[in-house]
Amino acid sequence: MKRRLVILIFVALSIGSCGYHEDSDKQAQPSIEDNKSLGAFHTEMEGCAICHDETAEVTDSETYENTQCIECHGDSADLGNPELEYDPHTSHLGNINCTSCHKGHETPQFYCNNCHSFEHYNMPFADAVKKEPWDKDWNQNAIQKAIDAGPVEETDVIVVGAGSAGFNASISAHRTGAEVILFEKAPFSGGNSMLAAGGFNAVGTPQQKKKGIEDSIEWFVEDAMKGGRYQNDEALVQIMAEESADGIKWLVSLGANMDDLKRSGGARVERTHRPSGGASVGPHIIMTLRAAAKSENVDLRLNSRVEKIVLKEEDKSVAGVVVHGKHSGYNMVAADSVVLATGGYGMNKEMIAYYRPTFKDMTSSNNITATGDGIRLAKEIGASMTDIDWVQAHPTIGKDSRILISETVRGVGAIMVNTDGQRFINELTTRDRASDAILKQKDQYAWLVFDTQLIEKKKMVRGYDHLGMLQKANTIEQLAEITGMSSLPETVEAYNRFQATGKDEAFGRDQMPLNLTQPPFYAVRVAPGIHHTMGGVAISVESEVLNLQSYPILGLYAAGEVTGGVHGYNRLGGNAIADTVVFGRRAGVNAAQFALTK
Ligand code: FUM
Repeated sequence: MKRRLVILIFVALSIGSCGYHEDSDKQAQPSIEDNKSLGAFHTEMEGCAICHDETAEVTDSETYENTQCIECHGDSADLGNPELEYDPHTSHLGNINCTSCHKGHETPQFYCNNCHSFEHYNMPFADAVKKEPWDKDWNQNAIQKAIDAGPVEETDVIVVGAGSAGFNASISAHRTGAEVILFEKAPFSGGNSMLAAGGFNAVGTPQQKKKGIEDSIEWFVEDAMKGGRYQNDEALVQIMAEESADGIKWLVSLGANMDDLKRSGGARVERTHRPSGGASVGPHIIMTLRAAAKSENVDLRLNSRVEKIVLKEEDKSVAGVVVHGKHSGYNMVAADSVVLATGGYGMNKEMIAYYRPTFKDMTSSNNITATGDGIRLAKEIGASMTDIDWVQAHPTIGKDSRILISETVRGVGAIMVNTDGQRFINELTTRDRASDAILKQKDQYAWLVFDTQLIEKKKMVRGYDHLGMLQKANTIEQLAEITGMSSLPETVEAYNRFQATGKDEAFGRDQMPLNLTQPPFYAVRVAPGIHHTMGGVAISVESEVLNLQSYPILGLYAAGEVTGGVHGYNRLGGNAIADTVVFGRRAGVNAAQFALTK
């Protein structure tokens, strides 16, 4: 009965006082004192035991506490409120820990606003005390103390980072027979992969066969090499191509739907696999991998940042890591193998300013977790870096935002024009060329223009509309007027002619699936932003991390965006997920075999 009362009060607080609309901000304000924390409020009702297991320490993942939240209030799906314009409880992040936003004893935070800028309601207990983030610093003294104290725990394989590469490595290592701990610094898993919008490039799949698409491993390799300005490590590209179809099969076996196909920029055929129905690939894959890891009992620990790789004195092979947990503090965990799957450094301003100074003021499409931790960890123990200064600017990030407007929008039919409404490049060229071309336009931004046919085809575009990013008009002339693109009517007329004849006389675009004839017409402002850091830790084809003499650091593996060499100077759309799945799996299996044969 008491539980029920708590549910009602909290749901009232969460929903009643949490409406996104201005007027609902003012109604149903909490009747309790605003300066109390969520924890204090609950304690007053029933003591600490209402949230905490009083017989045990709070774990870094806060699993017990979150189970209690769900038991009382329901999970995200239960709390979804269809009347809200933007509903944080049913976002693309999935069912994440409640404590990601609702902090127990400090100011709550809207995790969504790390990327978005929603005008949110007052979160319950918004006036609770503000604390320093637990992960503000890397404390060298505490790290050394943990090493001196020796390991508090042992396992076979430690995987660092729970994005696509980390999950694939963990599940693969686990299936190879190793004990695995997967550490993730964020309060929920997913990393940058969670935001992937494009798809997974693969060749020789049943999906391609069904659509009658002729493709080959050779073409895949050639396209990736050409896109990367031939600076890629061809042996790595070859492996990615050869094992890509198996990667699709593996994801499907874990429950993913990869049935839709599209052609990404720089690819000669449709080989980008994605879920049918137009959903974004990242959330879909991550939710599949989360569920698979859970059902296979992979030991995922959230709020746990690895801050040091420890090597053995005698042969400089891996001895374990020092992990800094939100509640447990600094501890050494021993393992024979470590897999770095920490992602890139697209959200580390200092690293961008250092390695790619011309991009230092650019926005980024990356998750806030992409801070280059793995590069720092590996460098510190003498790992070699490949192409570390190569950073990709994606041409179409929503202007003045952090929201990626997927390449899919151009792939499916949008045109790209400058602020006068003139096309200036083949829309399907590689990202580096498209970004350079935009930055050469007088206002250094562009518009993507499309019509209602595209909106109907792609669910994700409805998402941009929902986020208020689209300009809309019933005629092209009206769209030209509201956006100031005076030449747009002539541009669209010429493009429709090219589309009808199948020959783009202006820029040689060879794929024009849609014309622009069906109102309403739409436009979205875009500008280049940091999207992928191609450089990183040097690896062998077995995903072993290499030292400065190009020998493997025994027991250390890496996969995904933390590595360099796979993409050369420029990554093709759809090759990031391919990289994370193929090399994540390789790293996991090899790390497990290394640990099990020690
Ligand atoms: O534009 C995109 O859809 C991005 C895809 C990717 O980075 O692979």
